[in-house]
Amino acid sequence: MKRAIFPGSFDPLTKGHLDIIERSVPLFDEMIVAVVDNPDKSAMFNPEERCRMIAEVLVETDTNDCTMAVESFSGLLVDYARAREASAIVRGIRAVSDYDYEVRMALMNKRLEPDIETVFLMAAEEYSYVSSRLLKQVFTLGGRVEGLVPELVEERMKKKWAEIQATKE
Ligand code: PNS
Repeated sequence: MKRAIFPGSFDPLTKGHLDIIERSVPLFDEMIVAVVDNPDKSAMFNPEERCRMIAEVLVETDTNDCTMAVESFSGLLVDYARAREASAIVRGIRAVSDYDYEVRMALMNKRLEPDIETVFLMAAEEYSYVSSRLLKQVFTLGGRVEGLVPELVEERMKKKWAEIQATKE
């Protein structure tokens, strides 16, 4: 049984993340999308909202025979991965700028837990510039994010933004 963890902030899930999920599920029997639960003042969605959103998007996604789960975790990723008996951590790399951070993280994780491999997938070209942080910035300044996030995520972003605006009035 090959179980992988796909960890991240996912605030929110983008089409780039979804592409990585779709391309990595044929490699594993089980995959847990793991949302990091750390206090972040600039977060748009809380971890529960992110998990719910991802789970809803995955219902509409073809994940072959791979069993999917969505959870939040706190603490060290390798401790969580070990507790879940995962053999791999999946990460997407978009550009050279990601490489440095990702390699350092993978090597540190390998040192902490030699039995867990990090598997890197190159981001699809059309999403190689897409990040949750940039999307949030564009969206909150009134720019279009259509096609860069799943439709359900775009709807939730609009709803959340309306709620935020309402509290300011
Ligand atoms: O989507 P992100 O923000 O790039 O994901 C980063 C994440 C969640 C994978 C990373 O911050 C992480 O693993 N956090 C858990 C704490 C941890 O294990 N830190 C040491 C990493 S070497």
